[in-house]
Amino acid sequence: MLLPSKVLAQFNWPYKVTNGKAVTEVPQRAAGQKSALNMATPKLKTVRVAFVGLGMRGHDAVERWTHIPGIQVMALCDHERDRAERCQEYLHKASMPAADIYYGEDGYKELCKRKDIDLVYIAPDWKHHFPVAKEALNNGKHVAVEVPAAMNLSEIWQLIDLSEKKRLHCMMLENCCYDFFELNSLNMAQKGVFGEVLYVQGAYRHELSPYWDAYWKKDAQDKLGWRLEYNQKFRGDVYATHGLGPIAEVLNIHRGDKMKTLVAMDTKSVNGKKLVEDRTGKPCTEFRNGDQTTTLISTENGKVIEIHHNVMTPQPYNRMYQLTGTKGFANKYPFEGFALSSDELKKSGVTPSSDNLSGHSYLSNVDAKALVEKYESPIVAKYEKQAKEVGGHGGMDFIMDSRLVYCLQNGLPLDIDVYDLAEWCCLAELGSISMDNGNIPVEVPDFTRGQWNEVKGFHHAYASPADEAQAAKDAMDFTAKLKEKGKKYWEKAEKAAKK
Ligand SMILES: NC(=O)c1ccc[n+]([C@@H]2O[C@H](COP(=O)([O-])OP(=O)(O)OC[C@H]3O[C@@H](n4cnc5c(N)ncnc54)[C@H](O)[C@@H]3O)[C@@H](O)[C@H]2O)c1
Repeated sequence: MLLPSKVLAQFNWPYKVTNGKAVTEVPQRAAGQKSALNMATPKLKTVRVAFVGLGMRGHDAVERWTHIPGIQVMALCDHERDRAERCQEYLHKASMPAADIYYGEDGYKELCKRKDIDLVYIAPDWKHHFPVAKEALNNGKHVAVEVPAAMNLSEIWQLIDLSEKKRLHCMMLENCCYDFFELNSLNMAQKGVFGEVLYVQGAYRHELSPYWDAYWKKDAQDKLGWRLEYNQKFRGDVYATHGLGPIAEVLNIHRGDKMKTLVAMDTKSVNGKKLVEDRTGKPCTEFRNGDQTTTLISTENGKVIEIHHNVMTPQPYNRMYQLTGTKGFANKYPFEGFALSSDELKKSGVTPSSDNLSGHSYLSNVDAKALVEKYESPIVAKYEKQAKEVGGHGGMDFIMDSRLVYCLQNGLPLDIDVYDLAEWCCLAELGSISMDNGNIPVEVPDFTRGQWNEVKGFHHAYASPADEAQAAKDAMDFTAKLKEKGKKYWEKAEKAAKK
């Protein structure tokens, strides 16, 4: 058995190298435990939610949730008391009753013991995702965890086992699956507009220099903040999910195809080291995360996935999102476009503006608009207007939250299950194994443990129109009553404060 040699390497899941390929251990599923594929749980008329981690990201999530009918914010928790308290202002603004406040390193443990919470929405720094999710699942709550929900294979396998054993949802909050271009392109891919999609690219290319010093620091000795410290310690694509999530849905990963083998390469660290030196005033001899990391993954059905991670060097923001199919092509950055021949456009049911489109160039705005109109995702059609008003990365965050609540209220399988979480998060540890051993191939484990080909194709679940209408009415009625209660609550609180 080989183990990573570098001092700072802290991934430690067991693996073996045989014939030049690394294979990680797959823990056996306990007797009687079933997979969580397509798992539906009883309908929740009202989703009683608690938020843990109220920094830059979690704070905005509370505001967004006040716009979703049929929810109640029961508890707010952050390490820093004032960060939890300041979110009450959103509840006040929405005329919703105040939530209970929890704080300190272990505040979430008390919160998880409560019986009146259905869902814990988890958005602290990366090291706290897993302990909070584990505590919540062990206490019978569904969890929705910010990206990356799990940082290594040990956490991934434990979350899979917990979700399967407890029959509770463990969703990763991968908002990029809900952006307008991605949702519409997914709908096109599912309807065959691009033929068979063979090669896909995704990325997180975002220079974080304006943010490094805004991330939470645990105490006065903490010079780096959690995110820079994590990048210093860990090699591999530690933030793969924004790039991988939307394209994995297009490829139906663990729903008829699976990721098979991965190879990763990174550049040396230059800017990463400098960031540490600037903040500590000391030479930085080791910084594990390369300034640019590239991961290539082959799939069982002969497709290839390419994922980039670069938070260090100056460049325009880019999630790539490129689909290369046998009959067509979609690309999101630097501008959104599609390439299809006139014939393929006609076969897709769109009349081309000219008969000599070859697929060598992007469709004109007129043709692209006609294609998007024909293949608009039902999710975009339903949520776009309100999502743009509420906001959150242009609206995609609100769509993600709304879909989560819709599925919980209607008792449907969630769009993103625990196996998606596993597949999208595993690139960090698997990539580091590849790179620490001279860029060798690494087998991507089958996180469904043999069931990756049972579900045929990725689909968003929908309730029947009658059930959907009933759930929506119940949600609106609940929120109307809650707001009456909230109005009285805040009037009383204001009177008391004036005394
Ligand atoms: N999906 C997206 O687009 C997106 C965007 C930004 C951030 N994120 C993710 O959101 C998470 C938070 O990022 P951020 O930018 O808000 O970071 P941040 O540093 O602003 O906030 C982290 C918060 O976690 C709190 N915290 C630390 N320990 C805690 C504990 N024991 N209990 C409760 N709270 C604790 C800190 O006090 C801090 O308020 C990260 O996982 C990040 O990757 C996702």
